[in-house]
Amino acid sequence: MVRKRGISVLAVGGLAMGAFFMSAPTFAQTAVEQGQTLAKSGSGAVLACATCHGAKGEGMAAAGFPYLAGQGASYLDEQLQEFATGARSHPVMAPIAKAMNRSQMQAAAAYYASLAAPFDAKALSGHLDTYPAKDDAGAWLANRGDWSNNLPACIQCHGPGGVGVGEQFPAIAGQPAAYLREQLLAWKQGKRNPGPLNLMGDIAKRMNEAQITAAADYFAGLPQAAKAAAAPAEGAK
Ligand code: HEC
Ligand code: HEC
Repeated sequence: MVRKRGISVLAVGGLAMGAFFMSAPTFAQTAVEQGQTLAKSGSGAVLACATCHGAKGEGMAAAGFPYLAGQGASYLDEQLQEFATGARSHPVMAPIAKAMNRSQMQAAAAYYASLAAPFDAKALSGHLDTYPAKDDAGAWLANRGDWSNNLPACIQCHGPGGVGVGEQFPAIAGQPAAYLREQLLAWKQGKRNPGPLNLMGDIAKRMNEAQITAAADYFAGLPQAAKAAAAPAEGAK
């Protein structure tokens, strides 16, 4: 009894202190902190992002939900605005984005941009399929492009290993294959705003469906492939 009481007094004391320390920072809560709260708990019709995008923004590969962690803040913010206006359509994300106000979008974008990307960027950037097998269409497109069809190598903009470059060129390595495929098809069919300079709109329209599937599979599997290549002796042990 006495012991229990002691604990509750401590707990109340702790809560009071917590409230004291928290009251000041709430005013100055940074965008990243606001985004974190929104991601974890949601707010009204804005569903908690973590439910689908994972506790660390790592996505949910089995369900085909993309990771957000480590992507550029302005890219993420832009995507949320496009879901809200309908420039990018999706039955699940559109209603969530429509329920968000500008500062919630910016906060969520700042939060996810602050998280570590869910892949080993160093291993990936060092993993270049410079000499892909002739029949490996995904590796060819990714690393060399298809100049007979005016297609530049994907890594020219998405970085070696597809780890992303700066704020505007998102990482694509390790995104679910179905997700990557759908984005390319959406551009091909004019269902997703092509973004800066219509770069992806032009590219996706030039890709045939086999190339789309091959590139999607290649980038989805790249983190695993890079890991396997970095530790070739692993299986032989
Ligand atoms: C019920 C599941 C679900 C919830 C909850 C959810 N999302 Fe999504 N989100 C998705 C799916 C599915 C996609 C892929 C949409 C597509 O295929 O275009 C997506 C895509 C996105 C993208 C685009 C990613 C990219 O690489 O272009 C952003 C940004 C995003 N979500 C942010 C959020 C934020 C912020 C929240 C919380 C406020 C949130 N999502 C909550 C399912 C969800
Ligand atoms: C000339 C530059 C450029 C090249 C080359 C390029 N991309 Fe992109 N890619 C972009 C930009 C910019 C975006 C962001 C579009 C936006 O903001 O909506 C993007 C976005 C994407 C996305 C969406 C990512 C997401 O999270 O939703 C996929 C998938 C993609 N590119 C695949 C490819 C593939 C596959 C190739 C090679 C065949 C390729 N890209 C080549 C510039 C490029």
